[in-house]
Amino acid sequence: MKRRVTKAIFPVAGLGTRFLPATKSIPKEIMTLVDRPLIQYAIDEARAAGIKEFIFVTSRGKGALEDYFDHAPELEASLRKKGKDELLEVLQNTNMDSGAIAYIRQHRALGLGHAVWCARRLIANEPFAVILPDDVIAAETPCLEQMVEAYQETGGCMVAAMEVPPEAASSYGVLDVKEDLGSMVSIKGMVEKPAPGTAPSNLAVIGRYILTPKVLQNLNRIRSGAGGEIQLTDAIAEEIRNDRDVFGFRFRGERFDCGSKAGFLQATVSFGLAREELRDEFAQYLREMIALPNAAQ
Ligand code: UTP
Repeated sequence: MKRRVTKAIFPVAGLGTRFLPATKSIPKEIMTLVDRPLIQYAIDEARAAGIKEFIFVTSRGKGALEDYFDHAPELEASLRKKGKDELLEVLQNTNMDSGAIAYIRQHRALGLGHAVWCARRLIANEPFAVILPDDVIAAETPCLEQMVEAYQETGGCMVAAMEVPPEAASSYGVLDVKEDLGSMVSIKGMVEKPAPGTAPSNLAVIGRYILTPKVLQNLNRIRSGAGGEIQLTDAIAEEIRNDRDVFGFRFRGERFDCGSKAGFLQATVSFGLAREELRDEFAQYLREMIALPNAAQ
């Protein structure tokens, strides 16, 4: 039997303080890599994985996000009239079916676990995906699609995982590995933001998850954890304590932490160079910039 995952939660209610002052008025997820907002990359990845229902957990000041998914009939008509068919197609590819998107408010930024819990009534009793749009993943097969395929074999809960240097582990949820199965690991524990030197492995959780509704029930009981926030990791770790399967999935692709300034800049360079129409000019500029300090010596 095919294990279907058709609902995805996009938690976008965080304060985005690392991008102040921009995030004073622009949601982080509307910030643009080349010409598309981060949220569009996340939606495209979800669609490729077969997601049909898109649940946004939003907060005050995120109106631009809701507007982004409105259709733009005047703009479409104008492009059609001018014969700008390619642009029209770009625009129409961002259109979402009526009823496919739901918005839920998280009234206070109490943490990622709390944000996911806010969507519990829309998930009801099905497995679901969680996508953090500020983790952008460049991959031949989109990351969530890889996970949904692997999930057909495993069931249970699955988190995307990647190797990080030991000094970076304390910024992530880290996996305590039971058995290394290659592209997958089975997990015996998870620690959110371990103190330096205490991480159980170098495998860190990044922003893609496939979860069972049991995790939402666990979130009913979870109190705040690391950083005073209600942590999704703690609710997943409880599944392990209840003897249910949790897997880490080593995805194939490159992840950019677009929630940080350095990561966002790296993604901009990488996605810019990947675009055929920009590549030559942009690469030439980068070469000149890199040569500059040498030239000055
Ligand atoms: P981050 O840890 O990146 O926090 O959240 P943030 O608030 O977005 O950004 P900074 O650290 O202040 O710069 C990871 C993801 O979880 C969501 C965020 O929107 C982001 O997608 N989140 C976090 C919520 O939806 N609600 C919360 O209470 C916390």
